Amino acid sequence: MKITKNLYLMAAAVLALVSCGQKQAGTVGASSEVESRIEHILGQMTLAEKIGQMNQVSAGGEVSNYAEAIRKGQVGSILNEVDPVKLNEFQRLAVEESRLGIPLLVGRDVIHGFHTIFPIPLGLAATFDPALVEEGARIAAVEATAQGVRWTFSPMLDIARDPRWGRIAEGSGEDTYLDARMAEAMVHGYQGEVLDTTSMAACVKHFVGYGAAEGGRDYNSTFLTERQLRNFYLPPFEAAIKAGAMTLMTSFNDNDGVPSTGNAFVVKDILRGEWGFDGLVVTDWDSMGEMIDHGFGADRKDVAEKAINAGVDMDMMTYGFLSHLEELVKEGAVKQSAIDQAVRNILRIKIMLGLFEHPYVDVEAAKAVQYAPEHLAAARKTAEESAILLKNDGILPLRGKGRILVTGPMADAPWDQLGTWCFDGQKEHTVTPLKALQERFPGQVTYVPGLRFSREKRESFADVVSAARSADVVLAFLGEEAILSGEAHCLADLNLIGSQSELLAALKATGKPVVATILAGRPLTIERDLPNCNAVLYSFHPGTMGGPALASLLSGDANPSGKTPITFLRTVGQAPLYYNHNMTGRPYRGEKLLADIDLEAGQTSLGNTSYYLDYGAYPLFPFGYGLSYTTFEYSNASLDKKEYGVEDTITLSFTLSNTGEYKGTEVVQVYVRDLVGTLTRPVKELKAFERVELASGESRTVTLQIPVQSLAFWGLDGVKKVEPGDFQLWVAGDSATGEALSFKVL
Ligand code: NOJ
Repeated sequence: MKITKNLYLMAAAVLALVSCGQKQAGTVGASSEVESRIEHILGQMTLAEKIGQMNQVSAGGEVSNYAEAIRKGQVGSILNEVDPVKLNEFQRLAVEESRLGIPLLVGRDVIHGFHTIFPIPLGLAATFDPALVEEGARIAAVEATAQGVRWTFSPMLDIARDPRWGRIAEGSGEDTYLDARMAEAMVHGYQGEVLDTTSMAACVKHFVGYGAAEGGRDYNSTFLTERQLRNFYLPPFEAAIKAGAMTLMTSFNDNDGVPSTGNAFVVKDILRGEWGFDGLVVTDWDSMGEMIDHGFGADRKDVAEKAINAGVDMDMMTYGFLSHLEELVKEGAVKQSAIDQAVRNILRIKIMLGLFEHPYVDVEAAKAVQYAPEHLAAARKTAEESAILLKNDGILPLRGKGRILVTGPMADAPWDQLGTWCFDGQKEHTVTPLKALQERFPGQVTYVPGLRFSREKRESFADVVSAARSADVVLAFLGEEAILSGEAHCLADLNLIGSQSELLAALKATGKPVVATILAGRPLTIERDLPNCNAVLYSFHPGTMGGPALASLLSGDANPSGKTPITFLRTVGQAPLYYNHNMTGRPYRGEKLLADIDLEAGQTSLGNTSYYLDYGAYPLFPFGYGLSYTTFEYSNASLDKKEYGVEDTITLSFTLSNTGEYKGTEVVQVYVRDLVGTLTRPVKELKAFERVELASGESRTVTLQIPVQSLAFWGLDGVKKVEPGDFQLWVAGDSATGEALSFKVL
């Protein structure tokens, strides 16, 4: 076997290929040399070999099970094998024993880290720190590529406005702008500044609308109009593709009756036609076959035809292309040119990744990079930045406060704190909050779990209560097990599960201060628990180094700076409730709630507004919200002009002051509203954000730029443009506060 020695050390050696930054024709930026190599290989391929490249196979188990198919050129890509020894053997079969020697593209769900696990993507979004998220993606790529994985099925860019949907954990939340910035960061991180042997092709998914599943039930239908798609759901994909994303995955859902894997409008017309995408389009796992279940195709042959004619290049696990494309070409239902185009898109990625030159990995070198100290340090920093302080009556930071009772099912749950979609993270490497607190406060910590796992039910908490009585402060670690969010793991009830609320109530009854730290895959409805806590730190699932990160935050060694990337509901019945909703004809003005309504009151339409009688109109915590141990004040906000042309850039300046006692970081956020449009416009839309660190007592003038073009939207006429008129702009620490500034677009 020809294994390149010291491959990892050679990683920085740039391949003779085009970097992501210097793009030529086509969105993935292949050079003309790459294009000639594609044509040269294509010219030697039989139809069967071409179709083989379009087939992706899940390759767990013995290599010998797949050897024959690989030798025959029937496999273009494999997923779900990460053992570098086996991967070298797979590549050897492809490179040395198949007729044309085309290497395999090895894919894996490296969603929030490979071995070193970072916070779940929803937690990454809470950092509002694209540079740090990019660094995490780079680390994931270094670890995964060292073992032979050169393609990750990430980032997930599905806008999600319904926390019942379990996969909300895997994306950046509800906001298009934030999602787009995170998308770019992850694409850059995975693929690297310049393509080399540590580059892992990104796969943006799930195209498109998957997060809008009806009722938050996974795999469900969506009903998004073209305008909703273009204004809210497509921009993160477009941003990622402009950033150089090499591949894209179609989604499971049908949108208004058309399953994505057979949706030529979104794949061919928009992705390929309008955006010029020349990367690889893969289906989701058997999403081609599922078009039969959707009733969109009669059989495997029918759905294979629909998928290729919609613009799909590679079939993940339906074997529809492998079994039927040859026949479909002979019958004239599929053009040979469509097959050639798909194979070009696949070969382009393989060549650009340098797989032909470097199909093998150095197994020993691969071990050295896993869980490297700098990887763990970055994971810890990210977990620190992603935790959101939702409530604090002054109990936090703990500093040295006396005897500490640690309790709750997530205090020492090394697997569960890793979160969903984490195939390769190992719980043996996880540092839990319990372990980190024991180290940070030696001799001060008592641990009584109370509940062994989040779903557990218990009648009495006598042991925890008695321990709480002897403590000075109680730290309760609550939330959800990792398996309660993620694919197919949707919930209709978002309250703390099992007896966790009862545990909190019992702790509160002791009169001791209680700090709840919540590790979850989604924003849970914790309103009923707030009175039972003096402080709440919400961390989502924080990953391998979640323990030390949370211990730093609780102790005051670090100061929380995370902000909600999603609206936190008071009750699940409010879903979907998101900050950038359209203005209704009857905006809420604080009308009567249930208790205010007279008995036998008469129904009227006059003066009513849009709200719930039982829960009003507002969430528990708005989008962009998060406290700090210090306080920030915004003042002197001004714009450089009162009127702007459509090609201008708005310059906003303001003073940010740290008026509290701790050094801290504020995520400053800029929201804009277009007051009158040819369409109803959202009440606010995020247009810029930045993390600003200030020492206690420090003030700084902050300047942010907002291109007027970023106010454009897809209008009634099907054209994306900025409409002249009056606008308002807010700069604030969340989406619900701030004084409006006014400006005009001419
Ligand atoms: C199904 C999931 O929807 C997708 O996100 C994932 O990448 C594939 N399976 C491969 O595991």
